[in-house]
Amino acid sequence: MRIGVLTSGGDCPGLNAVIRSVVHRAVVDHGDEVIGFHDGWKGLLEGDHRTLDLDAVAGILATGGTILGSSRVQPAQLRDGVERAKGHVADLGLDAVIPIGGEGTLKAARLLSDAGLPIVGVPKTIDNDIASTDVTFGFDTAVGVATEALDRLKTTAESHQRVLIVEVMGRHTGWIALHSGMAAGAHAIVVPERPFDIDELTEVVGRRFEAGKRFAIVVVAEGAKPREGSMAFETGATDVYGHERFAGVARQLSDELERRLGKEARPVILGHVQRGGTPTAYDRVLATRFGWHAVEAAHRGDFGKMTALRGTDITLVPLAEAVERLKTVPQERYTEVECVL
Ligand code: F6P
Repeated sequence: MRIGVLTSGGDCPGLNAVIRSVVHRAVVDHGDEVIGFHDGWKGLLEGDHRTLDLDAVAGILATGGTILGSSRVQPAQLRDGVERAKGHVADLGLDAVIPIGGEGTLKAARLLSDAGLPIVGVPKTIDNDIASTDVTFGFDTAVGVATEALDRLKTTAESHQRVLIVEVMGRHTGWIALHSGMAAGAHAIVVPERPFDIDELTEVVGRRFEAGKRFAIVVVAEGAKPREGSMAFETGATDVYGHERFAGVARQLSDELERRLGKEARPVILGHVQRGGTPTAYDRVLATRFGWHAVEAAHRGDFGKMTALRGTDITLVPLAEAVERLKTVPQERYTEVECVL
């Protein structure tokens, strides 16, 4: 069998572990050949690829990023390129293509699958917002990075009696904010699923200082917004991929809380540090299992699906189901945290 693999969209710790696992299972156990496309869908559209053998994946299990490179492709570019992609798959004699990516990549995977390509998707994102899988690899690493940052920020916040507003990733969902905020004992957690009320937030933070505490830590997901009419809020412009570029919720919240509370406040934006570097053991294991199961699905001819974690089992779910909706933080999860807004 000949299998193509690519990584697309924002990178994520664990991508290399999937690539390595695909190559090991396919080449060593099945005697397959594996072709890696460079820079995501772009590589498939342009036929830019290389052979991945055991040497190519040696030593990459614990490395961050992706040895294949990644990029975002606009949906229109992909739609126009379906025939080209099919042509390259046919020319290379590929029996299966394994795209590893997030929401956008899996939507593209569905498009190509509907057009007749033999696709087995592998979900990834630090945001953990892909429906149909309990967890995506990268999330555990990102939460760990954010939690360590929050632990560190507490001591400097206390020294200066400040309010620190820490912005974590999470375009549409607040999973990283919720988990890192819980793990670090943040005093308020603000997520996109629940537009915040600035009066409530001011009260929560203000109460801490009234109780004699010297600092407060607010974790906010980058996609969070105030409730309609709650405060003036500048929204970001949309980029070429149709994604909102955030105007900086932490900066705006920090200015507003400083003004309202009369306490020094500072915004801290963790940004891409949450996506970089070595994956945790949990993410390496999940990524490796996804890679293994994707190859097995390809051998069974189980196409148009994506690997998923359900409980402790890896299963295959239809791409159509996987891209139907995002996995948002459910209400019950908020109620478990005292400080959630
Ligand atoms: O991968 C998802 C994500 O981490 C989002 O949380 C964030 O909005 C986005 O990537 C940032 O991506 P970019 O690399 O385009 O800045």
